This record gives sequence, structure tokens and C-alpha cells, in this order.
Amino acid sequence: MEEVKIPLGRAKAPSLHSHITGLGLDKDGKALKVAGGLVGQEEAREAAGIIIDMIRKGKLGGKGILIAGPPGTGKTAIAIAIARELSSDTPFVALNASEVYSVEKKKSEVLMQAVRKAIGVRVRERKRVYEGVVTEIRYLRKRSRLYPYPVIAGAELALETDDDSRRFTAGPEIAEQLYRLNVRKGDVIEIDADEGVVRKLGRARGYESRVFDIGGDVLVDKPSGEVEKVKEVTRIFTLHDIDVSLALQRAAFTSLFGVLTAEREISDEVRRKTDEIVKKMIDEGRAEIVPGVLFIDDAHLLDLESYSFITKAMESDFTPIIILATNRGITKIRGTDVESPHGMPRDLLDRLLIITTRPYTREEIREIIRIRADEEEVPLVDEALEKLADIGVENSLRYAIQLLEPSRIIAERRGRLKVEPEDVDAAARLFSDVKRSVEAIERYKDLMLA
Ligand SMILES: Nc1ncnc2c1ncn2[C@@H]1O[C@H](COP(=O)(O)OP(=O)(O)O)[C@@H](O)[C@H]1O
Ligand SMILES: [Mg+2]
Repeated sequence: MEEVKIPLGRAKAPSLHSHITGLGLDKDGKALKVAGGLVGQEEAREAAGIIIDMIRKGKLGGKGILIAGPPGTGKTAIAIAIARELSSDTPFVALNASEVYSVEKKKSEVLMQAVRKAIGVRVRERKRVYEGVVTEIRYLRKRSRLYPYPVIAGAELALETDDDSRRFTAGPEIAEQLYRLNVRKGDVIEIDADEGVVRKLGRARGYESRVFDIGGDVLVDKPSGEVEKVKEVTRIFTLHDIDVSLALQRAAFTSLFGVLTAEREISDEVRRKTDEIVKKMIDEGRAEIVPGVLFIDDAHLLDLESYSFITKAMESDFTPIIILATNRGITKIRGTDVESPHGMPRDLLDRLLIITTRPYTREEIREIIRIRADEEEVPLVDEALEKLADIGVENSLRYAIQLLEPSRIIAERRGRLKVEPEDVDAAARLFSDVKRSVEAIERYKDLMLA
């Protein structure tokens, strides 16, 4: 039996932080200067490492984390590093506190959905599949009454492994998937024998065609063993995924309108049902909970009702790791006249482990920009990197990072392979940092109001 893993996908991970792979600590928990995609901020990273230990030992119960520090000092970056450090499929959900005030959903609903998105359920399943290299594929078409051109009615298909081969006649559902995935001779595919879902695994080594393969396809070995086999697959869902699918199933019985609103507000009953299903799967040894990270940015924007929701969430059975971030010191608790540290009520503050981040040195800023340039594939000459580091110091790190891609495009238009300092200057003239855009509005205020 083989083991395959279907990853969550990185769609939700903000690409701004795609260079971060972990906290970059050595085995004694000391931060390496540059590691895991992170630079500097050693104390915060070491503190985060201790939190990982507490999570693994089950000692974070009832507590949350607050990361406090000025803008652009890596608060979000460290929260993501904590998630990546826990495991590669740990859910990471980022919510800006302002999103709680939505017109469509109640505050508690927004928060509840975020909590449930941040709790993964890793499910092990045995799956019967047909797997092999496509050695023949032919579509069957027929005329349709509904559509002017012939439509796909099925496919004839042959799959081969090193030891076996089999021919299939597939119905329209599978044929359409083959067509959509552009499955060609030489592709390795897998067809779920029970659900009929087709997956393209890559191009078989030895079947690369010179004409069509301009790259892009992953090369894989030709499978061995029987074409029909049982695989152990691990899939990760979130509690929210299961809530939504249950809610949709129920709504489908009632009305189309029900389907449309199902995701807007999920009933407690549906959530209880999900929890029941998940607990049963855990008891049967088929699933395990993967607590994820719920990151709430600009947490000082939350109000008392939201804070009490969060405090309660920290105490419940299925709970994610809650990380709040703020760049405010003493400020009013929203909706009240009470001043408090970070605008948060005392009883919440008492439950938070607080990590602070500090501004970066020029060296660190340069190193972070270098890593981002590498990640975004922007080749820089040394002086261009220095120029960007200056901008990072004088304006902001975020602004310097944002100038990378425009600088690359400008260099390319000027026929260069590497970004020169002039290209960075040109990009900085075209795009403003926040200070300049505000100044522009102030300067032209009279005109803008006219
Ligand atoms: N120590 C660091 N090492 C590497 N990249 C960093 C570091 N700190 C911040 N970054 C990157 O710089 C950018 C701004 O940091 P961010 O985490 O958004 O700051 P904050 O959340 O404190 O405002 C992001 O692209 C982030 O990934
Ligand atoms: Mg941030």
C-alpha cells in the first residue's frame, strides 16, 4: 500500500510571506542570524520557539499570544513562521480585526468561521484507484440536441505500469475531466475508482515529447505494480469546510435561496453535527485534529464583545492557536472610554503571552530585501540592493519590497537583465509610499474638493 499526501495548497498563504519556511532556530532554540527565510528579530523568534514547545507539550491551554511592535517589523511573518514550524499542513488563517464589522455577518459569526477555518482535520482514507501511464486515449463524441457541435460522450483509454496494463471505456464524466486536464499519451494519471475523480500526476519519464513539453509538467516515474491498487491517502479539511458542506447539503433540500445563504450563517446545529462526525472519526482512529493558527491583525480594533468571544474560544475543546498583533500602545478599548494597554481588556491581557518586535537595522533590512528579491526572481546589481536598503530605512521595509517588481519591469523595458539603481529610482518616482501619497492629497486638497 502506498502513502500519498494531498496538500492543502498554498492559495491562502499570503505571497508577501512566501519566503518564510520556519522560525530558523537551532536545536537549542537559538535563532540563527538568517534562517527559515527570517532575518534578525532573534528574541521574538526564540520566544516563538518556546511557544512551539508549549504547544507540543499541550501547555498553551487557555492562553493566547500577542505580538506587539511597530509596522513592518515582522509580526505577521513570525505568526506564519509559527504555523510552518508546527507542520507543513498546519492551517493559517489571517483576519484583520476590522473584518469583524461586516454588514452581512454578525461579529460572532465572522469570528466563529475564522476559528473553524483554523482547525484542521487530517483524515486517513483507503482509496481504490486506477493508476498508470496513458498509452492510448481516444474521445467518443456524439451529436447533442442541446448544443450545435458534437459533445464528448466518453473515452477509450489504456493505462500501463511496469508490470500491468488495462483498457477502459470511460463515461462522459470521466472523459470530460480527461479532456479538461488535457491528458495526453505519456501522462501519468490516477482515477479514483469510487468517486471517479481524475488526477494528473505528471509526465512519465521516458515519454517526454520534444514538441509539446516546453516545461511545466512534473516528471514522474512510471508506476509499478497493478493498475488497480489501494492507496492510503491523507487529506486535510478544516472544520469550516465540513460545516459548509453539511450546510449546503441541508440547504439543497430546501431552496436555491438556502444554498446561496448557507455560507453566510452556519447554524449551531450544523456545527454540532460536524463536531460529532469528527469526534467519531477520531475515536475510530481515522482522523486527527491539526490545530492551526488564527492570526488577528490590528487586534486593538476589536470590541468587548469580540474580546469575550476570543477569550471563550481559547478555553473550548477544539481550539486553534490564537495570535493577536497590534502596533498600538495605550489606547481606548473600542466602543468605550476606557484606556488600556493595546486597547485590550485586562482579563484578556492576563491570558496573553506577549512577544515584542523591534525595528530592523539597515543590515537586516538589506538582507530581507535580498531574500524577497530572490523569492520574486528579481535580479539586482549590488548598488540597486543598497539603494533599496536606503529606501527601506528612510521610508519603510514594505515600500522597498513593493518596489522590487516595478523595478524589474522597468529594467526589462530598458533591455537590461539586472535591475540597476536608476531603475529603482524610476520605480520610486512612479509609486509613492504612504507618506508621499498623503502629502500629495494635502497639497492638492483644495483642488480635490472642488
Ligand atoms: N525578520 C524577517 N525576516 C524576513 N522577512 C521579514 C522579516 N520581517 C518582516 N519580513 C517581511 O517584510 C514584510 C513586512 O513584514 P510584516 O510581517 O508584514 O510586518 P508587520 O506584520 O509587523 O507589519 C513582509 O513581506 C515580511 O515577510
Ligand atoms: Mg502585519
